[in-house]
Amino acid sequence: MKALELQQATGPEGLTFVERPDLESDVEVVIEVRAAGVSFPDLLLTEGLYQERPSLPTVPGLEVAGVVRSAPPDATVAAGDRVWAALQGGGYASLAAAPLDRVFPLAPDLSFVQGAALPVNFLTAVFALRRRAALAVGESILILGGGGGLGTALVAVASRMGARVLASVSSEAKAEAARAAGADEIVVGKEWRTAAKAWTDGKGVDVVADLVGGDATLEAIRATRPEGRVLILGFASGEIPTVPANRLLFGNVSVIGVGLGAFAVREPTVIQDAGEELSMQISEGLRPIVGGTFPLAEGRRALALLKERRASGKLVLTIEGADE
Ligand SMILES: NC(=O)c1ccc[n+]([C@@H]2O[C@H](COP(=O)([O-])OP(=O)(O)OC[C@H]3O[C@@H](n4cnc5c(N)ncnc54)[C@H](OP(=O)(O)O)[C@@H]3O)[C@@H](O)[C@H]2O)c1
Repeated sequence: MKALELQQATGPEGLTFVERPDLESDVEVVIEVRAAGVSFPDLLLTEGLYQERPSLPTVPGLEVAGVVRSAPPDATVAAGDRVWAALQGGGYASLAAAPLDRVFPLAPDLSFVQGAALPVNFLTAVFALRRRAALAVGESILILGGGGGLGTALVAVASRMGARVLASVSSEAKAEAARAAGADEIVVGKEWRTAAKAWTDGKGVDVVADLVGGDATLEAIRATRPEGRVLILGFASGEIPTVPANRLLFGNVSVIGVGLGAFAVREPTVIQDAGEELSMQISEGLRPIVGGTFPLAEGRRALALLKERRASGKLVLTIEGADE
């Protein structure tokens, strides 16, 4: 099989396109990969900054779409089925193995590229908005980094849940991605706290989704109404913030952590539940925003775009047949 192998944890340039022995498994679903999603954790892995540090060489990649090559008898899918799947690694390859409870049927009207854009960000978005935030119809939500991978997923899912969505972005290209995902309002640039207040007649938003961290987190708390919630989803800025607790007291604001990977270890059904809700939203028209595709061999270029903060929407790596 073909694979993009991380040989040195020196960033995207540590990846090399190689030939490996074909993957086989009796206990997992083996998928002939047509498309693999590029996620922020993949970038962290190449830099040696991810929470898990597998021994090298290793094949990154937490999400794929493709055709089942083999499946154990107790699987809900069978050889020949089109599927999308969340993995524990190894997605940047022409063959990948997925745990039985993390494989979902790919709707006939979704391409493999669209399928590979779902697992990491959309499962997280459903978990964050439905379970952690209990987002209600008509609530207002500010989504930071709303034109990126997780950002566009949050915008799309929040919008389908009936919330009013304000997305903050740093460029017109990302504004376009957030708009395509369904944002009601977009603010380009750094003045998003002022914009959020104005958008809610001075009250502050019900919920902020913060995947940026650093200085943005305190600003997010300030942009929230009394009894509002701030979701801590990630630290794309590279800085883990320290929040003065008096701000939470004065503002009566709740800060809510959202870590799907860690939660799924304790409660594995959470992925299945989110996947089922996602399948329903897809049948009602939900679609990921794919900002660019790259052949698997050129995966370094995609990760470099993420690193340089230049990716709009979701980036996907392709193998022959990806557009089917
Ligand atoms: N909690 C979970 O379960 C979970 C799941 C998936 C991902 N994540 C985390 O969520 C974060 C975002 O992932 P993603 O896939 O959406 O990445 P992405 O596509 O690169 O988007 C991140 C966005 O963050 C914004 N940003 C602001 N300051 C930045 C900076 N200094 N450097 C880079 N980006 C900056 C950028 O938007 P603007 O340029 O428009 O400001 C960028 O588009 C990552 O930290 C990732 O690890 C968490």
